[in-house]
Amino acid sequence: KILILDFGSQVTQLIARRVREAHVYCEVHPCDVSSDWVREFAADGKLKGVILSGSHASVYEVDDRAPDAVFELGIPVLGICYGMQTMATQLGGKVEGSNSREFGYAEVRAHGHTELLKGIEDFVTPEGHGMLKVWMSHGDKVTELPPGFKVMASTPSCPIAGMADEARRYYAVQFHPEVTHTVQGQALLNRFVLDICATQADWIMGDYIEEAVAKIREQVGDEEVILGLSGGVDSSVAAALIHRAIGDQLTCVFVDHGLLRLNEGDMVMEMFEGKLHAKVIRVDAADLFLGKLAGVNEPEAKRKIIGGLFVDVFKAEASKLKAANAGSKGATFLAQGTIYPDVIESGGAKSKKAVVIKSHHNVGGLPEQLGLKLLEPLRDLFKDEVRELGVALGLPRGMVYRHPFPGPGLGVRILGEVKKEYADLLRRADAIFIEELNNWVDDATGKTWYDLTSQAFTVFLPVKSVGVMGDGRTYDYVVALRAVQTSDFMTADWAELPYGLLKRVSNRIINEVRGINRVTYDVSSKPPATIEWE
Ligand code: XMP
Repeated sequence: KILILDFGSQVTQLIARRVREAHVYCEVHPCDVSSDWVREFAADGKLKGVILSGSHASVYEVDDRAPDAVFELGIPVLGICYGMQTMATQLGGKVEGSNSREFGYAEVRAHGHTELLKGIEDFVTPEGHGMLKVWMSHGDKVTELPPGFKVMASTPSCPIAGMADEARRYYAVQFHPEVTHTVQGQALLNRFVLDICATQADWIMGDYIEEAVAKIREQVGDEEVILGLSGGVDSSVAAALIHRAIGDQLTCVFVDHGLLRLNEGDMVMEMFEGKLHAKVIRVDAADLFLGKLAGVNEPEAKRKIIGGLFVDVFKAEASKLKAANAGSKGATFLAQGTIYPDVIESGGAKSKKAVVIKSHHNVGGLPEQLGLKLLEPLRDLFKDEVRELGVALGLPRGMVYRHPFPGPGLGVRILGEVKKEYADLLRRADAIFIEELNNWVDDATGKTWYDLTSQAFTVFLPVKSVGVMGDGRTYDYVVALRAVQTSDFMTADWAELPYGLLKRVSNRIINEVRGINRVTYDVSSKPPATIEWE
C-alpha cells in the first residue's frame, strides 16, 4: 500500500486516483498525523512508499511538515510541489520564496538518468536533453539541495525543479505529475509506485467494494439510512453500494416528479426493487409538481419550485417512515451520492466570484433540516471511478454510462410553462433520438454516437409551425435536438453528428410522434450558450 499525506492541495485526490489507476491500494491522510500513527500504519509491513502532496500555502505561511517517521522507515518517498519543499527543509536543504511565480505549462529538463525519470520524456532537444511537458504552480522553490541529493530536473527559472537521493530512494518534483496537463504524469507515478516502491499492481474495484462496505458498516452500525434515489449514476451507485453493505437498513426514496425520461421510473424500480431487492419507496408526485408549475414561465422560478418541492416531498416521506416505525428511532443517516468533483465545486462555490448562472437543483441543507447525519461513500471518487464501481456492483452498463440528466429533469427541457402534454411529447421524441444515437456506430472509432457524445437530449419548443403530411396541412410543435462533446461540462462543443443520423431521427420523430412536425438541430457551443436551454 501507498500512503499519501495531504498538505491541502486542491489536487491531492488526483494523486490517489492516479495510484488507483496503477492498480495499487492507497490511502490519503492529513499531513499532521503523528509519527506514531505512521509507524502503526506501517506495522503490517505492507506500506511500500509515501507521497507528500502539494499545498495551497507556502512553506513560509505554514509550518506543516511530514511526520519524522516518514523518513525513518527506510521506504521510498516522493515529494510533490510543497511536498518537495518540506522534504528539502526537513532533510537539511533550503527553500526560498521567489519573485517569479511559475504557474501553468512549463518545459522541464530531465537531468541524468535517475531511476524515476529514466526513459520518461516528451521530446529531446537538439542538445540531447530529455524534456518533460508539465504543469507547475508554485512561488517558493528549493535553492539548496539537502545532503545526499542531486538535481533531477530544472527549468530556467527553477534550477532545482526535481531532486533525488537514489541511495535512500527519495524523489521530489516541483511540478504536478498528478494532473493530466503533465503529459508523462501517470508514467512518472507508475514508475514510482510500481518500480521504485515495488508494489503489486493487483488492486481492483472489487477490493474497493470490500473496503467501502466495511467502512459503511462501521459508520452506520445498527442505525437506519435513507437515500434519495434519482436514477442518475451517482445516487444509483451509492444506493447499490450501501445496500450491499447494510441491506434492509437502507430505504431509498424515489421521487417521481413526472419530469423523467420515458419509462425511467419503471426501470429504476425494476433494477433496485426487482433485481437488487432493495427497499424503495416510489412517490408518485407528478400531479403535485405539474400543478405547482402551472402558469410558471421563468426558468429560475421553475427550478426553485422543483427543487423546493423535492425537498418537501422527501421530508414528508422521511417523517412518514419514522411514524411507521414507531418504537424505532427511524433513519438517522441521510445518504448522498456526492462525488469528489462535487466536493471541490461546493468548496469553490463559497468564493465571492461565483455568479449564479443557473441555480442547481440539489438537496444541500437537507441533512441539517432533517437532523440527519450524512453518509457519502463516493466522496473520494471521480466520475469514471464511480462508473467502474457501479459495473463492479452489478448495475447495468446502460444505467452506469448514461449521460447526465439534470435534477429538474424535463422541467428545464420544456421551454416556458411545463404541461403534461408537452412532457409526454418530449419523452417520446427524446427516446427516439437516444435510441438512434445508440444504434449509429461511427466507422472510424467503432463507437456509437451515444458514446461519442457527452450529453444528448431533446428540447421541447412550445411554438407551432406549419407542415404538410400526406395531403393535409399540419400545425404542430417543434423540438430541438441537442448533442454536445465536453470533458468537464464547463465548456462544450456541439457534436458534428452525421447527417444520415440526423435525417433518420428527424424522420422518425415526425412520423411517430403525432403533435411534432418539425425537428431542428442546435448548433451553439458553450459558452456563450449553455448546454441546457434553461
Ligand atoms: P448548463 O446548462 O449549465 O449545464 O451548461 C451543465 C451541466 O449541468 C447539468 N445541469 C444540472 N444538473 N441540476 C443538475 O443536477 C440542475 O439543476 C442542472 N442544470 C444543468 C446539465 O445537464 C449539464 O450536464
